[in-house]
Amino acid sequence: MNSSAHLLNRREFTKTTLLAGAAVASGVLSVRAAAPTRIRTGVIGCGSVSGSYLPELSKCPYVEVVSLCDIRPERARQRATEFKVAHHYPHIDAMLAGEPFDFLINLTDMQEHEHLNRQGLAAGKHVWSEKPIANSLAAGQKLLRTAREKKLRLWGAPITVQSPQFAFMARALAQGALGRVAAAHADYGHEGPNWSSFFYETGGGSMPDLMVYNITSLTGLLGPAKNVSAMLSIVTPERDITGKGRIKVTEEDNAMVLLDHGKGVISHVQSGFNYFNPHGHDGSGEQRHTISIVGSAGFMGLVGYDWAPLGVDLATHQQPKLERHVTDAKGYNWQQGAALAAECLATGRELLVTPEHALHVLEIIITARKSQKSGKRVNLTSTFRWPILG
Ligand SMILES: NC(=O)c1ccc[n+]([C@@H]2O[C@H](COP(=O)([O-])OP(=O)(O)OC[C@H]3O[C@@H](n4cnc5c(N)ncnc54)[C@H](O)[C@@H]3O)[C@@H](O)[C@H]2O)c1
Repeated sequence: MNSSAHLLNRREFTKTTLLAGAAVASGVLSVRAAAPTRIRTGVIGCGSVSGSYLPELSKCPYVEVVSLCDIRPERARQRATEFKVAHHYPHIDAMLAGEPFDFLINLTDMQEHEHLNRQGLAAGKHVWSEKPIANSLAAGQKLLRTAREKKLRLWGAPITVQSPQFAFMARALAQGALGRVAAAHADYGHEGPNWSSFFYETGGGSMPDLMVYNITSLTGLLGPAKNVSAMLSIVTPERDITGKGRIKVTEEDNAMVLLDHGKGVISHVQSGFNYFNPHGHDGSGEQRHTISIVGSAGFMGLVGYDWAPLGVDLATHQQPKLERHVTDAKGYNWQQGAALAAECLATGRELLVTPEHALHVLEIIITARKSQKSGKRVNLTSTFRWPILG
């Protein structure tokens, strides 16, 4: 049995909330706050990133993780023990035929997302996918059409637009604090993961793994891009992967992308798996500006990574000395995306993250590969609702 019937839609939620409010107002103080709806959730992919997602999901009042799945069954078993999840499976078919759930969280290899997301939607599940949602724009758009037809929700990581630092920057831009915006730069890199080969295989690369954060932030701040020029390369043709040995690198590990956002605004973003980075995955360690935006009347720099931002430095004609703002994360962290999506399913509270934006970012990555091949600037076709103001 599919347990979608347990989901509160937004209207029912509002009605419940209003009724509870009315009861309190009329003096019926014995009304107890209803326990939040918990979305029955299945997580597929029990590797590295599941260790960041599952603690968030375990403490989220809107989530009940009922099943786990991994084609390496010992990983699913181990996570099930660690996070007290009752059911675990070695294959998506067994998972979908097993314990009923409503929400599929896909944390598998980048190249696996598309077909697992498709299978999840076909089985009537809402889907949260790690990046990328699909391997091509057309396939991603088809997934979104399927979701809409079936009245299901589909979301994709990352969630950089949900941070308070992003909100500050988006507001500053909307208010014209930088004058006429001209240019932006963003970068993210480290020495590359050593635990899985998919990062270096066709369909992987530093763009969908790392640049995806910066592209999401830059297009979120400056608007959808119109066209792309890119140079991509492979710096390290072979890598050693734990448990697998030496592999050939067949997707870029070094990327430079130029984006034209229209109205004269140009941004540049770079990523790579050959970047000396003393902070590695420690978000709190990175203190420099990883995104900077300049206009005729001001400069703005994001302190730290956009997925774990530490503040925003702003200087303007009126206040030419850099001043630091929004040093408080206000509860935001990068690994909470699926928990926020579950909250959306349970309460109707919408996210700033949209699948249209994720698909635009995917198109930029795919188009950057076309630009590298052809040596030409290539137009984009997709867009998303902008500006993103919380
Ligand atoms: N590791 C991180 O810190 C991190 C952070 C943010 C995002 N991500 C993203 O998360 C995703 C996973 O990355 P990871 O580092 O956890 O990789 P990983 O290799 O550690 O884990 C992936 C897991 O998925 C399983 N898997 C692969 N295909 C499957 C299938 N068809 N059915 C069931 N299970 C399958 C693998 O056996 C593996 O256990 C990627 O999209 C990555 O870009 C990772």
